[in-house]
Amino acid sequence: MKNNYFDLIDQTYHFPQNGFELVDGTLHFNNVDLHGLIQKYGTPFKVSYLPKIREKIRLSRQYFNKAISENNYSGKYEFCYCTKCCHFNHVVRTALKENVSLETSSSFDIDLIEKLHQKGVFDTSKKIVHNGYKTDDYIKKIGRLINNGFSNSITVLDNVRELDKLMELETEEPIKIGLRISIEEDPQAAYYTSRLGINKRETIDFVKDKIVNNDQVELVMVHFFVDSGVSDTMYYWNEFKKALSQFTKIKKVAPSVKAINIGGGFPIQNSLNFDFDYEYITGEIVRNIQEACKEDGVEEPDIYTEFGKYTVGESGAVIFQVLEQKQQNDAELWYLIDNSLMNTIPDAWSINEKFILLPLNKWQNQYKRVNIGGISCDHSDYYNSEELNQQVLLPAYSNDEDEPLYIGFFHTGAYQDSISGYGGIKHCLIPSPKHIVVDEDENGDQFDYVYREEQTVNNMLNILGYND
Ligand SMILES: Cc1ncc(COP(=O)(O)O)c(C=O)c1O
Repeated sequence: MKNNYFDLIDQTYHFPQNGFELVDGTLHFNNVDLHGLIQKYGTPFKVSYLPKIREKIRLSRQYFNKAISENNYSGKYEFCYCTKCCHFNHVVRTALKENVSLETSSSFDIDLIEKLHQKGVFDTSKKIVHNGYKTDDYIKKIGRLINNGFSNSITVLDNVRELDKLMELETEEPIKIGLRISIEEDPQAAYYTSRLGINKRETIDFVKDKIVNNDQVELVMVHFFVDSGVSDTMYYWNEFKKALSQFTKIKKVAPSVKAINIGGGFPIQNSLNFDFDYEYITGEIVRNIQEACKEDGVEEPDIYTEFGKYTVGESGAVIFQVLEQKQQNDAELWYLIDNSLMNTIPDAWSINEKFILLPLNKWQNQYKRVNIGGISCDHSDYYNSEELNQQVLLPAYSNDEDEPLYIGFFHTGAYQDSISGYGGIKHCLIPSPKHIVVDEDENGDQFDYVYREEQTVNNMLNILGYND
């Protein structure tokens, strides 16, 4: 039995797979030569591989359109990109090249949309779904958008009071609205009912009393999002069917409803063993909606999704150098990396999220069980278990080897930047790493550029008021 790292991976998983392959002994990610990027830019760095975003949008459309055509479903599929997942201009513009609609979640998102409009990449006919809690400022800006001609802007009410606030807006046409139905949480959750959305007990009366005869608004969408994400579990289908039953009841009272929005939640690959049948689950989603509509005798709605993580998660990676190895007792070897895990992949620390972790070199070395530690002084700044293993295995190395060991966390493109406060104050003042973007030109040739250099000391001291 061999025990070098390559054989471990080769014998445990299908490899190469999904954009991961070894070329001349080093790891390539979607044909990106990461070792080449290290030589060009040094570590640590984040990398965003934009063509992956286009691929994911196309795939999602392919799954839904196939299910729609196979079931002779009469509604259409609408892909909305949810900006909160990754707001960067290069990311949103990449999604817009695929002609997506957008979902907003707060007041500043409207400014973001206005910027895209000013730059000529988002016209007033585009569909926009406004989710989230509607502060006065958010409502005011939604009104501004509508009055500037964005006639397909749909405001999804998160609570019943938002309707009164919306009605204070002065618009020429009725305001298109949606209703978010709140979902029961799964049995392990810390509470029973999601705070997001309107309680099922209230919805029908609310629609009858406040919406159907109200000519200031037009109810066009019912929205629900099962917080666990899309999964083939009893819990998911149970909540899905309960929400569908609400949808058909609402549709009977308010025939103007033309769309059902199932939110986000398509999963992404978080281990080399990941196996999720997107085609099957999409087929089931469409079939369930169709069945509920048939049973209750209502027209089949258009289906909106707001996949965030699925759209951008797999486009991102963070690359580190192992600075030092430290054997703290017989069983515990630490690999200390050149930044902080808490700062760069905060979900790993805060919600125990797993990412694909692979070395970039030394695949012919033997492997060892290790703990990975960041260089902040926080004891929580570590990573030592993977999705399927309660351990992390990486190549062993000796300190006299010429080249350091490099490692990467992959599929980190969703939420990590906003949650870690990109470019802000960092734990232990460890700077945000350099950020590199990789894209393809019209001929399919890859190019890369530095989007942001490593954060400077002045940038951090400015935020902290030392330069005032
Ligand atoms: C309303 C809504 N839509 C979409 C999303 C995106 O979810 P995901 O990134 O899991 O696809 C979220 C996430 O919080 C959400 O709240």
